[in-house]
Amino acid sequence: MGRKFFVGGNWKCNGTIDEVKKIVSTLNEAEVPSQDVVEVVVSPPFVFLPLAKSSLKPDYQVAAQNCWVKKGGAYTGEISAEMLVNLGVPWVILGHSERRALLNESNEFVGEKVAYALSLGLKVIACIGETLEQRESGSTIAVVSEQTKAIADKVSNWDNVVLAYEPVWAIGTGKVATPAQAQEVHAELRKWLEQNVGAEVAATTRIIYGGSVNGGNCKELAGQPDIDGFLVGGASLKPEFIDIIKSAT
Ligand code: G3P
Repeated sequence: MGRKFFVGGNWKCNGTIDEVKKIVSTLNEAEVPSQDVVEVVVSPPFVFLPLAKSSLKPDYQVAAQNCWVKKGGAYTGEISAEMLVNLGVPWVILGHSERRALLNESNEFVGEKVAYALSLGLKVIACIGETLEQRESGSTIAVVSEQTKAIADKVSNWDNVVLAYEPVWAIGTGKVATPAQAQEVHAELRKWLEQNVGAEVAATTRIIYGGSVNGGNCKELAGQPDIDGFLVGGASLKPEFIDIIKSAT
């Protein structure tokens, strides 16, 4: 029943061919816990997916950072879920707050994307999280529940979903949520899943935390009962990502 620890590295819109090769060799040289203990998934920009996928050792999987909401076709500039499947990319990150905020992705749109990607057999890291304003006005739980509901409304099988709680105010700011703050939201999310989706889904779905996770703060966060791993941004480009992977053990 135990939920396998999950560490995702979201490289966002960063990197050159040389930088990707460097990160890949750092990862390949590292001794990381076995895949039975921790699932590690790195997410380079689309254009570097084939390079990363073909050069990483089998301890690591790859994820795309987005995909289109339905079957590909006349959607200039988009990448379809079918293409990811064709490339053998097993995972996709959907609903990241940067896309919600900068590209106006609504809760419903994210829900549709998650459902479509799952229907093609992709595994999904679905992101949710409140802004600082929402936290300060006391609506954190309402906001993340609403975001989760929009996904749950479209998804019936949660086996291939990892839920990433990423408070917007903690992303790229160096202001990590305290272990207690993160644990509180994760526990509420699990309760929400239990009450609205089912006990089994609540018990088995991994809820990971993202937002200024680094080599120094990961261990304490990882010790919280409802934190099942991380989605790491900035630190996933650095050697300390290895320390974060090791925080699983
Ligand atoms: O998806 C990961 C993320 O948004 C967190 O970014 O740089 O705060 O670790 P960062």
